[in-house]
Amino acid sequence: MSRGVIPSPNIWRYPDVYETENLGVDPDGVLEAAMRRIHDWTGQNVVDVGCGSGFHLPRFAADAARVVGVEPHPPLVRRARQRVGAITAAASAAPAAVTAAVDPSDRARPNASIEVLRGTAQALPLPTSSMDVAHARWAYFFGPGCEPGIRELGRVLRRGGTAFVIDNDAARSTFGRWFRRALPRYDPQEVERFWARQAWQREPLEIRWEQPDRASFEAVVRIEFPAETADAFLAEHPGSSVDYAVNLFWRTFP
Ligand SMILES: C[S@@+](CC[C@H](N)C(=O)[O-])C[C@H]1O[C@@H](n2cnc3c(N)ncnc32)[C@H](O)[C@@H]1O
Repeated sequence: MSRGVIPSPNIWRYPDVYETENLGVDPDGVLEAAMRRIHDWTGQNVVDVGCGSGFHLPRFAADAARVVGVEPHPPLVRRARQRVGAITAAASAAPAAVTAAVDPSDRARPNASIEVLRGTAQALPLPTSSMDVAHARWAYFFGPGCEPGIRELGRVLRRGGTAFVIDNDAARSTFGRWFRRALPRYDPQEVERFWARQAWQREPLEIRWEQPDRASFEAVVRIEFPAETADAFLAEHPGSSVDYAVNLFWRTFP
């Protein structure tokens, strides 16, 4: 395993359930709207650090000129490349074929270039000053102790480029309460102090996790928490959605 890689049991072991989870995250588009207000990537170069199976790559490619996913775990690099291959083929096909081949939200603009590179946040496989926006979502490798990754963001971003890190806010919401119960040593205030010391901004946001049915909801809760805690959360929480507080940490590099 490459240096600095932190295993991610949810997506490493259950990539199909994680895809379901991703499809139900933030159905209202709160995160995308907040990022666009800070730095719109239309026509620009975007890197998604720790891109997993590449779920967010087509969403950026709908407007960006170039999108690069960086991911260290080889099976996920392969999955992300398969996704990108299907999108690229569909983008150059006839409209009817596009409809049949991919989810409507997975369409890239015809000239967008999308690629997936194996690498880590601490050693981004990208030239200096080559990107405009960096995005890292549920990227716990960004947090206290991640200074090498932050230096890399500063290197690959052009002047005026913006880096976004999206993380759980364990101090708020039902999901935050679950997170703290499952990880009692996690200190949300320390995380916030860390980013403030790095001169990053924090935008607190509230999103929803909305699954199509109870079975999908239970499946995604079970890949996020150990069995006993997942059982307890599900027993006390009916339905197929949960309120979920997040922090959007960001910095525009001079
Ligand atoms: C919880 S997953 C989130 C995946 C993706 N961002 C998403 O939202 O679908 C975290 C990802 O970070 C990757 N990862 C772990 N350590 C990393 C590192 N040092 N640099 C970059 N990515 C890393 C994992 O392999 C995993 O794919």
